[in-house]
Amino acid sequence: MKVFVVHSTFVSLLAWITLTFALPQAGSGTVTAKARAATSTARSNTAAKAAGKLYFGSATDNPFLDEDATYKAILSDNTLFGQLSPENAMKWDATEPEQGVFTFTNGDVIVALAQANGQIMRGHNTVWGSQLPSWVSDSGFDNATLISVMQNHVSTVIGHYKGQIWDVVNEPFNDDGTLASNVFFETIGPTYIDLALQAARAADPDAKLYINDFNIEGEGVKATAMANLVSDLKSRGIPIDGIGLESHFILGEVPTTLQAQMEAFTALGVEVAVTELDIRMTLPETDALLAQQQTDFQNVVSACTAVADCVGVTVWEYTDKYSWVPSTFAGQGDADPWDENLEMKPAYDGIIAGFSS
Ligand code: XIL
Repeated sequence: MKVFVVHSTFVSLLAWITLTFALPQAGSGTVTAKARAATSTARSNTAAKAAGKLYFGSATDNPFLDEDATYKAILSDNTLFGQLSPENAMKWDATEPEQGVFTFTNGDVIVALAQANGQIMRGHNTVWGSQLPSWVSDSGFDNATLISVMQNHVSTVIGHYKGQIWDVVNEPFNDDGTLASNVFFETIGPTYIDLALQAARAADPDAKLYINDFNIEGEGVKATAMANLVSDLKSRGIPIDGIGLESHFILGEVPTTLQAQMEAFTALGVEVAVTELDIRMTLPETDALLAQQQTDFQNVVSACTAVADCVGVTVWEYTDKYSWVPSTFAGQGDADPWDENLEMKPAYDGIIAGFSS
């Protein structure tokens, strides 16, 4: 009985200490929301570097930077974020809306911000079947013309944004492992990938050149197709430095073979990165879903931590306030580690734990 009394007093004391001292450090200041707030005081980019990674980063987009000073201030804290990806600013429709007319304004804003903050840039992306201006997608260019249009685009954009890590080719595969139909594949054939990578290398010998895709994060036909492509490129001397694993996951469905798949890719002699991480749930959010999301984020980050040549983890927007998810996947959302009030969620604790594993 006495033991029980001592024990329960001790527990009460602990609870008091937690309530008194731990909550204000959660970064939320909202005591009533404790179950939904992060408790970690560690910093995500500091934790990534301590784990031997180059960065923990986030995608960002110009409208949010222009309109939301608090959002920008958090993004600019390089103890939290060591890397930025432009969500849209460097895509073809943004950079070459008319043939031969290049507009780098939005991308330059993001690069300047990263430089001011001491953050690494990942360029995203030069050759993709989506977000193409119609003068490219509907042109009916013949093979030779489209090759020269594509090479000019890649070399001008990567030549402008030197010294970055680049998603040169984005989403080249269908889920069944065949090459996706887009204007480049249909007109040029599979060698469009070779030609894009070669143009990128020629434009900036120091850029890290990636192919980026989704549904390649776990073992399966699409991941095998990516591995086969990269090993073929390497055997033919086509420049390729990395594979980007987008990692747009559904809650509770992070592939259990994620680490093994990263290892299979790095065994080919390339690096990997988690390039677009978010973990979406069917709304409405509950504490149980947030707890699962914390576990899921931890599992993704700990896989990268465990693989020496996984260079870093990027979330596709750090906050639910600006996530692409709700407008893309009906009824789903809350996929990011900061909530719509720019407060850290339990998922943030998962990220810190993942880098500490
Ligand atoms: C998304 C952006 O987040 C949206 O703002 C845009 O409207 C559409 O594209 N895979 C990719 C990214 O490689 O470029 C996509 O980004 C998300 C899926």
